[in-house]
Amino acid sequence: MVSIADSVLVVTGGASGIGRSVALEFADEGASVVVTDVDEDGLEEVVDEIDADGGEAISVVGDVADPDSVEVIVDRATEAYGTIDVLCNNAGVFDDFASLEEADEALWDTIVDVNLKSVFLLTKEALPALTDGESEGVVVNVSSVAGKVAGGGGVAYTSSKHGLIGFTRQLSYDYGPEIRANAICPGFIETRMTEDLIEETPDEVDELVQATPARRYADPAEVASVVRFLASDEASFMHGAAVDVDGGWLVD
Ligand SMILES: NC(=O)c1ccc[n+]([C@@H]2O[C@H](COP(=O)([O-])OP(=O)(O)OC[C@H]3O[C@@H](n4cnc5c(N)ncnc54)[C@H](O)[C@@H]3O)[C@@H](O)[C@H]2O)c1
Repeated sequence: MVSIADSVLVVTGGASGIGRSVALEFADEGASVVVTDVDEDGLEEVVDEIDADGGEAISVVGDVADPDSVEVIVDRATEAYGTIDVLCNNAGVFDDFASLEEADEALWDTIVDVNLKSVFLLTKEALPALTDGESEGVVVNVSSVAGKVAGGGGVAYTSSKHGLIGFTRQLSYDYGPEIRANAICPGFIETRMTEDLIEETPDEVDELVQATPARRYADPAEVASVVRFLASDEASFMHGAAVDVDGGWLVD
């Protein structure tokens, strides 16, 4: 891998939460950052923050589940910075724990399209850029504890996050060593995705965090630092792993 300081990062869902933290963390280390999201205002805030700190970033508004948007994201990144060294597939949506009875086909399609199909589309589109240089391309996919066990989401979310780990393994299998791909599996992180749960069901959230060894939920920066580690040469022998960043949620 080129050093983080010399790298070009594309991060999806970069307007908020974990994606925003990943963008700030890489920019802080000197990377050129392409933040993409459907949330135009949020993107503008992130790019302004990076600019204000003397970093380098552009934003691309786009829906990662839409093949046309995905083409634009990769075109804009390569036009601006020449290549893509690190792709962090992070954009995601939650299904509010909908069971099979509660979930309809539209919900299933939305969750699976945004959380899983988008990763197929964008990684495929970015493949030439990721493999163009002498150094390896790096992919970090943001799965979830729901990628390994039941109960972290509903049927669609859990299926999509399990699928993302499978995608990561197959990508490693097919494209290593040119591409070094890994997934991360966050537990409960304080972001826009979880703010309603924290506000509306504080007792359930407390019960959940008290059942984890960390006895708390995490700040998105605690996930972003693991993404940075996985993208760096410090993780040079890590291929196809699904790394828990969950405060110990999965210990039992
Ligand atoms: N917060 C948690 O507790 C937690 C736990 C495990 C995994 N995750 C995963 O982390 C990732 C980031 O989530 P977060 O917690 O930061 O939530 P978040 O809601 O703060 O951020 C998600 C971002 O994705 C964007 N997005 C949604 N649909 C999109 C689309 N179609 N195209 C482009 N962008 C889109 C949203 O606008 C938002 O900015 C998700 O994949 C989520 O499943 C979160």
